[in-house]
Amino acid sequence: MRLAGKVAIVTGTSPNIGGGLAGGLADEGARVVCVDVDTGNAEQCADWIRRRGGDALAVACDVTDETQVEAMVGRARDAYGGVDVLINNAGVLGGLSVLEMPLERWNRQLAVNLTGTFLCTKHVARLMVERGTRGSIVVVVSTAGHQGQAGNIGYCTSKSGLLNFTRAAAMDLARHRIRVNSLTPTATDPEEGLERAAAWGRPPTARGAGSLDFRTMVPMGRLPSPRHYARSAVFLASDDAEMITGCDFRVDAGAIAKYWPWVPNA
Ligand SMILES: NC(=O)c1ccc[n+]([C@@H]2O[C@H](COP(=O)([O-])OP(=O)(O)OC[C@H]3O[C@@H](n4cnc5c(N)ncnc54)[C@H](O)[C@@H]3O)[C@@H](O)[C@H]2O)c1
Repeated sequence: MRLAGKVAIVTGTSPNIGGGLAGGLADEGARVVCVDVDTGNAEQCADWIRRRGGDALAVACDVTDETQVEAMVGRARDAYGGVDVLINNAGVLGGLSVLEMPLERWNRQLAVNLTGTFLCTKHVARLMVERGTRGSIVVVVSTAGHQGQAGNIGYCTSKSGLLNFTRAAAMDLARHRIRVNSLTPTATDPEEGLERAAAWGRPPTARGAGSLDFRTMVPMGRLPSPRHYARSAVFLASDDAEMITGCDFRVDAGAIAKYWPWVPNA
């Protein structure tokens, strides 16, 4: 129970990564505020945590809207007295090339991925400062934020922006003893997310066939699952990481460290 007594906000609690992060934090004793623009994702994640014996609150919130973010942080404070941990996970995936990307879609992707993280960090950090909480903030990035991926201009740009957002916010908040670190997932094994969706009562969905066989390309020969990201998030959120700030934790089975022309499992 490494997070006993702590309150954690997790944004973007779909059955995939956000659900896995929220469940992993709850398993370590955190009370979890499940936040999503999709009310079903917020409520079903909170219900699932409560069914497993945890304590959770669902809050519907669009993280790009400052009024809604302030209200969401206020609800967490009123329900639980404060916030110790924020996991900025909400994101818009996928995209198009620089040649094709419509401005409207670019603006929305940057608004959710970058501005949403800024707004949640700003208002949660203000509450932490007000209450003297030595909090931990985690920003979910992507290996696509470390490299140039074709056909994904808005996603790559926003996720790489988050890497330096993390370092700059860590500097702003260091004197308040609030730590800010990022967590880099990569192409994720779909199985656990599908199982969680079934546990939330959702109908089965067909697994999409990607154009790349990620498993053969990743050095460890298997892809991480949300539970692997959750273990790193628990560590970063816990007092075990009390001297770690401004870092990026890659949970990517070696993807970014790989010498680029080597195809390990071909
Ligand atoms: N799936 C992967 O392989 C992968 C790889 C690397 C990084 N990531 C990152 O992990 C995070 C979660 O990814 P996922 O695969 O679980 O995606 P997902 O689409 O299943 O979940 C994203 C969640 O964010 C929510 N969201 C979107 N816009 C929002 C807004 N304006 N306000 C509040 N919530 C909003 C969505 O409703 C959804 O629940 C994202 O930040 C993503 O970039 C995913």
